[in-house]
Amino acid sequence: MDVLWLEQNDVRSLLDLSDAMDAVEKAFEQHGRKKVQMPSKSYLYFESHNGDLRTMPAYLEEQDVAGVKIVNVHPDNRQKGLPTVMALFVLNSTETGAPLAVMDASLLTDIRTGAAGGIAAKHLARPESSVLGLVGSGNQARTQLLAIANVFDLQEVKVYSAHEERAEQFKQEMECKSGCAITVCSSIEEVCDCDILVTVTPVRDPIVKSEWIKPGTHINAIGADATGKEELEASLLLRSRVVVDDMAQASHSGEVNVPLSGGVITADDICCELGEVIGGPKSGRLNNSDITIFDSTGLAIQDVATALLVYNAAKKKGVGKNLPIF
Ligand SMILES: NC(=O)c1ccc[n+]([C@@H]2O[C@H](COP(=O)([O-])OP(=O)(O)OC[C@H]3O[C@@H](n4cnc5c(N)ncnc54)[C@H](O)[C@@H]3O)[C@@H](O)[C@H]2O)c1
Repeated sequence: MDVLWLEQNDVRSLLDLSDAMDAVEKAFEQHGRKKVQMPSKSYLYFESHNGDLRTMPAYLEEQDVAGVKIVNVHPDNRQKGLPTVMALFVLNSTETGAPLAVMDASLLTDIRTGAAGGIAAKHLARPESSVLGLVGSGNQARTQLLAIANVFDLQEVKVYSAHEERAEQFKQEMECKSGCAITVCSSIEEVCDCDILVTVTPVRDPIVKSEWIKPGTHINAIGADATGKEELEASLLLRSRVVVDDMAQASHSGEVNVPLSGGVITADDICCELGEVIGGPKSGRLNNSDITIFDSTGLAIQDVATALLVYNAAKKKGVGKNLPIF
């Protein structure tokens, strides 16, 4: 029996962000209709190495496709010349359980996370939004920008990073890729003066103050994806309509996890899940002055939907190596 081995360059050549956005939107809609199986992510914490390893299985029932991702987050890897996030995805046959493909999922993670951010902004931000603010300038910031630029006519992009040289690199690389003019800002407050704000850093203590956020802003809160992490001052959540990707997972590891466990907010302060906004019956934004927050922890259904695109394209184009496994 063979398994299809797809390395990162294969995935890069096969995966298109717009296609991923369509697939991820459909997966969220199915999640809203409870047509998926997705146990919460499981975590191993390597405290002495400031890192963790997660497994993320899911089954999209309507497409009859299943698989699991194994992914780490090690913020200190950059100093070692390694990516902070590295992932492998295994796609399995639902009929026999046999592994069909093993693929690099690091780029896939960046793309499916960007795709979710773009789709969340499409459903929650004001349609005329034209100024994007990015707090953080790493891999996820790159795909957030590209996905949001796919949906909105962006006139201005502002970026802040704790490491100014990385924000400058981001500007050099992403102005060309996104077609947007990018300004490097010297404070988070400056970046917060925008229509759509994306927070995408590994911080564990809030760095965005409530007083900096004006009515009407939409926020993609992407960085908090493990217990104890948060980027936004909790009082901001209380003035906002908070939409989570998945209630159980967000309560455990999303932007809401610390304020929930500290009793600063309760489950009643969370509006709904994104899938319930996409497919109904719930509403995210009610008016132009609402502040909306998408709390993204990253769902396994995003990975499965995106990996299926890669697998189908690889089969069609004959990309990848067939390796004997059993
Ligand atoms: N929600 C999801 O689906 C999802 C998916 C992947 C990664 N993540 C999370 O997103 C975060 C970023 O991931 P990445 O792959 O872009 O990492 P990265 O290391 O490539 O980038 C992190 C960025 O944050 C900046 N930064 C660090 N501390 C900061 C601070 N105090 N103030 C401002 N900027 C600061 C860094 O300069 C860098 O630009 C991580 O916490 C990761 O776990 C979430």
